[in-house]
Amino acid sequence: MTAVTQIPAEVIRQVEGLRHEINAHNTRYYVYDAPIVSDAEYDRLMAQLLALEAQYPSLVSPLSPTQRVGGAPVAAFDTVRHVVPMLSLDNGFDADDVRAFDRRVTEGLRDSGLLGAADKVAYLAEYKFDGLAVSLRYERGQLVQAATRGDGQQGEDVTHNIRTLRSVPLELKAGAPEVLEVRGEVFINIRDFERLNQAQQGRGEKIFVNPRNAAAGSLRQLDPRIAAKRPLRFFAYGWGDLTTSPLPEQSGMLDWLESLGLPVNPDRRVVKGAEGLLSFYEQVGERRTQLPFDIDGVVYKVNSLRGQDVLGFVARAPRFALAHKFPAQEETTTLLGIDIQVGRTGAITPVARLKPVFVGGVTVTNATLHNEDEIRRKDVRIGDTVIVRRAGDVIPEVVGPIIERRPDSTVLFQMPTQCPVCGSAIHRAEDEAISRCTGGLFCAAQRKQSLLHAAGRKALDIEGLGEKLVDQLVDSGRVKSIADLFSLRVEDLLLYDRMGRKSAENLVAALEKARTPTLGRLLFALGIRHVGETTARDLARHLGSVDAVMHATEEQLLAVPDVGPVVAHAIQEFFAEAHNRDVIAALEQAGVRPQLDAEPVRQLLSGKTLVLTGTLPTLTRDVATQMIMAAGGKVSGSVSKKTAWVVAGEEAGSKLAKAVELGVPVLDEEGLKALLASG
Ligand code: IVH
Repeated sequence: MTAVTQIPAEVIRQVEGLRHEINAHNTRYYVYDAPIVSDAEYDRLMAQLLALEAQYPSLVSPLSPTQRVGGAPVAAFDTVRHVVPMLSLDNGFDADDVRAFDRRVTEGLRDSGLLGAADKVAYLAEYKFDGLAVSLRYERGQLVQAATRGDGQQGEDVTHNIRTLRSVPLELKAGAPEVLEVRGEVFINIRDFERLNQAQQGRGEKIFVNPRNAAAGSLRQLDPRIAAKRPLRFFAYGWGDLTTSPLPEQSGMLDWLESLGLPVNPDRRVVKGAEGLLSFYEQVGERRTQLPFDIDGVVYKVNSLRGQDVLGFVARAPRFALAHKFPAQEETTTLLGIDIQVGRTGAITPVARLKPVFVGGVTVTNATLHNEDEIRRKDVRIGDTVIVRRAGDVIPEVVGPIIERRPDSTVLFQMPTQCPVCGSAIHRAEDEAISRCTGGLFCAAQRKQSLLHAAGRKALDIEGLGEKLVDQLVDSGRVKSIADLFSLRVEDLLLYDRMGRKSAENLVAALEKARTPTLGRLLFALGIRHVGETTARDLARHLGSVDAVMHATEEQLLAVPDVGPVVAHAIQEFFAEAHNRDVIAALEQAGVRPQLDAEPVRQLLSGKTLVLTGTLPTLTRDVATQMIMAAGGKVSGSVSKKTAWVVAGEEAGSKLAKAVELGVPVLDEEGLKALLASG
């Protein structure tokens, strides 16, 4: 006789409570990116649940969050026939396409009497997620099957992998129908993708070209333990098989899916008419590069479900929906060659010469390859078909090759040993990824870049001194350093290509104005390594003249805010070079007279560094940081003797301890607010 173990009611309640709590944390973390507990706290809850399930094995359920780690691998993917086919969307690329879509829909709905003669069509507008479509089948509220889109009629059974996604509920909340097939997109956040690739590289494993490929590759694993380790996420945007559709509108249906515990992206809106659609498109377009995940457009759907029915489908796409695509951020093209660019400090950047391709709204012919290691890491070879990316205003880059399309005759890149511009040796320090031309200002390329830097808007702001002219001035030997610029006359300038009298006069006037820069701008214009705009201004304010900076001891330099040993060393090295001191003397000779920067308004927290730790009762970390910065302060991640205050909230840990140890004053949120108000 086997004794049936009685499980105490208290244990059952505890297990249910833990599961509920863990699921809620999963949603907060994986759907809303807004966790309210630390990873450690989450792990503790999980450990408690695991311990109880180990003690009472009969309580283990496939619906428990402990079961998401991935079960046994499957031998092969089963085929799943979609009860309701998974269709695709019609694409639109510009405002005309959108207006034509709205016109067709309006006519269709008016003809059928669903829309008044003067009314505009209401649409649900949302993101077009750039991942892959899946269909999740829930029966009596439980996840029973998950399938990829496949050809739309049948896909692959990926239930074993989908079960590992923390944002996909294994069980729906109360109110679930008998059968519900949820349609949505599986994707990976950009930051997670970057981390994943770093980890892959560290283990010598495959590097993914973009988040979508990584998501697809992860779902196509037979072993769910692999998928469990991949940061896959899911958003629902529709449904397939459904016993009865309980609500009359797309927007209401999405709210309902959300109420069942399914992740639905909150950035969705009901808008009216073509103008409403276009303004949604524009607003999303502005935010696109700040989103944590890739989207390739927005999707518009007629909000009325009856309207959707009436409009029906053409071929494989609904008449009631449109995908309004953003200009592609990634395209493929051929890598024709790899050129070398020499920067201001001699840094050598390999630049891809590409077969021209339209991407991110412009035609791209060059893209950066960053450095030698990057080329090796990505295994990019001349002759490859490559993916080129241009996101927002970011400079175009080569993402990687498409290995499947590699021809037999590709050529590996070799870093030259001599500078292609000046012939000096190219050197790569052992601990650096960057190779440098050792020619210094002897190298025409470095000279040109230094001049362009000095002429830049944040430096001497010499309008009209562009790349073409600098090339000619340097190549002809007329200009060797910044100081030479100041002896340029209108007559000299007229000798150069594309220089009319008017532009020459304007440039001479701009040079005249540049003779009295602020000291900060002049120091920045010199192009001292590690001395950016802000450091240059700080140096000006603390030391007061070029001479003082030139002769400052290390100790004096270190007393300037933000100047550490590396920067101090770079400054001393710069002025130790005779030719740099010559340039300073020549500038003086040319009548360049720096003015002292106007003392900026002193702010309450200027020069003060604060550290935030723990969770504050009402302020998010971002908001607190912004408030501190608005008062002129800085926020740092670590506590030192120089920290002015530590602002501590709930569950503050080692930073609070460190503050106490070092005697740094500690504030709570109220204290911070009082401090800020005191200004
Ligand atoms: S609705 C019948 N909504 O785009 C409507 N699809 O080109 C079918 N997609 O395969 C899909 N975001 O992978 C819809 N908000 C969204 C979407 C979306 C991304 C993808 C989906 C689909 C493809 C259609």
